[in-house]
Amino acid sequence: MVVPWREAWHEALYGAAGFYRRAEGPAGHFTTSTHGPLGALLAQALGRLADREGATHVVDVGCGRGELLTHLRAARPDLRLTGVDVVDRPSDLPEDVAWLRSPGGGALPDALRDLEDVLVVAHEWLDVVPCTVVEVGEEGAARVVLVDGDTGEESLGPAPDPDDLAWCSAHWPIDGHEAGTRVEVGRSRDLAWADLLGRVHRGTLLAVDYGHTRDDRPTSGTLVGYREGTVVPPLPDGSCDLTAHVAVDSLEHDELLTQRRALRDLGVTGATPSADLARTDPAGYLAALARASAGAALTDLGGLGGFHWVVRRVARM
Ligand SMILES: C[S@@+](CC[C@H](N)C(=O)[O-])C[C@H]1O[C@@H](n2cnc3c(N)ncnc32)[C@H](O)[C@@H]1O
Repeated sequence: MVVPWREAWHEALYGAAGFYRRAEGPAGHFTTSTHGPLGALLAQALGRLADREGATHVVDVGCGRGELLTHLRAARPDLRLTGVDVVDRPSDLPEDVAWLRSPGGGALPDALRDLEDVLVVAHEWLDVVPCTVVEVGEEGAARVVLVDGDTGEESLGPAPDPDDLAWCSAHWPIDGHEAGTRVEVGRSRDLAWADLLGRVHRGTLLAVDYGHTRDDRPTSGTLVGYREGTVVPPLPDGSCDLTAHVAVDSLEHDELLTQRRALRDLGVTGATPSADLARTDPAGYLAALARASAGAALTDLGGLGGFHWVVRRVARM
């Protein structure tokens, strides 16, 4: 069936046989900052962020199989923790971590609401919230990109709807660009984020993702697939992840900073330990070296350190 990308994308990831419902979870196909030693260090930093923001509860939206929450539980037994994802609660999650099952994409579970004294983390969630893909056609007008769900073959459909066009005018103007220029319309991400904000009574929300701002928008589109650790052509058949970079500056925010800057502020340096420690405390030295290596990877501006941290604080009366 030939449908707009946004529709095919949603079904491919969150339909009954969707990619994110598969048993292996996202970690079976790609790694993120939440996994392994990097995840342990990130969790410690997020614990400090929770303290700085006065939060006693951390909610991880789009938490995979709870990898970051497991690290957080190890680092911070005192924090209340809740995971939200599209599958049932993983059986190996620490037992005092609460879990909410979500519909997926831009839709969140009804039970996620009235959050207080909370730090809500959405780590690589918004890039998998499907969005409308628009392309400038040969005649110079913006058209919605359609895709054949079986073959991945694309074609150009009708003009985008007025709300998507208004979003483009405000954040990613397409008029006057040459044929083939693409815009991944961030409106669905903005709406999903706004919905999440609306569920918080008092607290801080943090979205961490790869993306762009008005100064460095891509021109050729960023939609790709991931399968078993490899980038593959985007095929909306449920066999691969589908992701496109996030227009992070259009999300409602108080702060927008690189992961490097944010983690530096939270005490993650990546600095190697002194060689003296190797003589006086070899085990401590090796542990510090492992932390330094994880810190360096998390803050490398050419890699994970270039991810965006979008921060919004909410305090309703
Ligand atoms: C790219 S993975 C990131 C997983 C994990 N946060 C990490 O960084 O490793 C995106 C995750 O978001 C989940 N997800 C997508 N839409 C969601 C929604 N509306 N509510 C909860 N989880 C969602 C997917 O099921 C998937 O586990």
